[in-house]
Order: sequence, then structure tokens, then C-alpha cells
Amino acid sequence: MKTIIGNWKMNLGVRESVALARSSLLLLRGKKVAPHMVICPSTIALSEVRKVVARSGCGLGAQNVSSEEQGAFTGETSARMLFEVGATHVIIGHSERRHLFGETDEGVNAKMLKALEHNLTPIVCVGETKEERTAGHVKKVILHQLGTAFKTVRPKFSETLFVAYEPVWAIGTGETPSVQEIVEVHTYIREILGELFPTAPETAFAVLYGGSVNGENAYSFLREKEIDGLLVGGASVKIHQLKEIVDAACEVLIAQS
Ligand code: PGA
Repeated sequence: MKTIIGNWKMNLGVRESVALARSSLLLLRGKKVAPHMVICPSTIALSEVRKVVARSGCGLGAQNVSSEEQGAFTGETSARMLFEVGATHVIIGHSERRHLFGETDEGVNAKMLKALEHNLTPIVCVGETKEERTAGHVKKVILHQLGTAFKTVRPKFSETLFVAYEPVWAIGTGETPSVQEIVEVHTYIREILGELFPTAPETAFAVLYGGSVNGENAYSFLREKEIDGLLVGGASVKIHQLKEIVDAACEVLIAQS
């Protein structure tokens, strides 16, 4: 299976989100084999978009979640609230949250625990900065981020958990690592997860790539068996780009079936 997750960031209001959700679903219609899709609108659009995706098989993700259960946390949204409005997934530790809003690995861990407690499937993002890459610290950074994010986490493994490898320098820049480099990091991520969860079944985790994915490069990533799917930002709100990405996924799935 291949999964395409659209992170719409802070780009669309409620009406635009409903419209994009409808046209995104249309891309899957009539396909014999299709990727699993998850769309992540802004929090205010979740309940309306839920009506569009209901019974479609498309997941509905939030872009962030509070690490707290409830209480005096102005501006925050709890996992219980997200679940109540129909979210099935939640992005945790996106690099924009880490770098613009000071989110830490420990905070990511607290959010993971809350998400799982309230039946939201985490999409946890990891990835190195340009400086860390230049210094040769990619693996060290990923190991630390994943080790902390999953600390004391006991997934039930009934749902696939997502880990997205998103190098910070590749997000929204048009730059990406080579396919070979991505495959290497994905293999390493699987090794780490295997050590953290030795009894986890093969389907327990899906490792996605994110960062400047578009209609042109999607196929080259998706055809690698180590890359279980893509976390797409900018291109996921441009329907012609998303169409090319979905078509690339279908092509790969047909070739592999
Ligand atoms: P991008 O963003 O596809 O626009 O680079 C990816 C992301 O932030 O998840």
C-alpha cells in the first residue's frame, strides 16, 4: 500500500477546504487500485471536511494537537476535541511547529501519548536541518528525535502509525535529497523502529517521505519499496499537482500488483 497525506497548512478556509476535499476524493474515483489518502485541513475546517470524507476511506488529519488533556490552555485543541469532530489522524512534530513554535522532542512525545490515548493515529515528523546534514549528523538527529518521540509509547498496532522523514531544508524549497539518500534514511528509520518495538508486525509502521514533493518527482519516490508514501504540503493544495501524485501512486501500485 502507498499512502498520500496532504498537509494543507494554514492555506485554506472552510469553504475552500470543503471544495478541495471534494476534488481530492474525485481523483480516486473509478480507480481499480488507489493509494490510501489522508487530508489535513486547518482545525476550523475539520468538522465540515469530515462530512465530505465520511465513508470514503479517506483519512482526516489535524495538523497539531495539544499535549494536555483539558483546561486553561488558551488557543490549544485537545486530542479528545479533534476526535470528537472526526479527525482520524494527527501530524505531530512538523518542522514548522518545531522551528517556528519551539516544539521540542519531549513535547512531541507528550503529544504522541495524548493522540494514541484518544484514538488518533499519529503522523510523526522527523528530519535534519541543513547544518546538521552538512555536519554529517543525519542519523544521530533521527535517532534522537524518534527515540524521544516514542518514549513510553505503547501502540496497539491495530492501526498503522506514520513516520514522515522530512528534511527541514527540503520543505517548501524545491530541493530534495536524492532517492538513494531517502531510501537509506528510511531503512535506518525502520531499523530504529524495529529496535524500539521488536514484536511489532510489519504493518505497524509506514515510513513516508516529505519535502518539496510534486507531480514530477512523486513517481521516483513512490516506486521505491522502502518509501511507503508521501507527506505533501504545497502540491496537495494544487489539484493538478495532486492529480499527478495520485496517478503516480496508482501507476506504481498497478506495476507492483
Ligand atoms: P512541501 O511541505 O511539500 O510544501 O515541501 C511538506 C510539509 O511541510 O509537510
